[in-house]
Amino acid sequence: MRVAVTCDHGGYALKRVVGEALRASGAEVTDLGTDTDASVDYPDYAFRALDLLRKGECDRIVLICGTGIGMSICANRIPGVRAALCHDAFTARMSRLHNDANCLVLGGRVTGPGVASDIVDVWMKTPFEAGRHAARLARIEELTARMNESGKGRGDRS
Ligand code: RB5
Repeated sequence: MRVAVTCDHGGYALKRVVGEALRASGAEVTDLGTDTDASVDYPDYAFRALDLLRKGECDRIVLICGTGIGMSICANRIPGVRAALCHDAFTARMSRLHNDANCLVLGGRVTGPGVASDIVDVWMKTPFEAGRHAARLARIEELTARMNESGKGRGDRS
């Protein structure tokens, strides 16, 4: 599996650990920076990875900023991206089983290296359960399209 990983300065220290865990799981890893702990703007790095995912040039992405929140906000704006900010192996497992997450987000100032390695390992090997969860993901797409068309901010009209 082709996985692109990126971070801002808040995620820089964790990126090396995540890269190692991804490679250990068999992934072909593309590292999109940043490569120092100098301050950068997290949207610039999030969108590098999101661009590759949208173009089909990688299969999944991992985004790391200080809390994971800023990069999650970026990622879940993009059609077809299902980003999960995970804090432990349980949330990582559920993000795959129920949400088919194709984007893992981590907080470099929140999650330690051991927990992050476990998260990556579980996230890489857990399949999507599909079934009722596929129907719910389809419903997200349907309600998003409806809201975008109406521009009124209500997703509950039929
Ligand atoms: C950078 O200081 C920090 O704001 C960023 O890494 C991230 O936590 C944003 O959500």
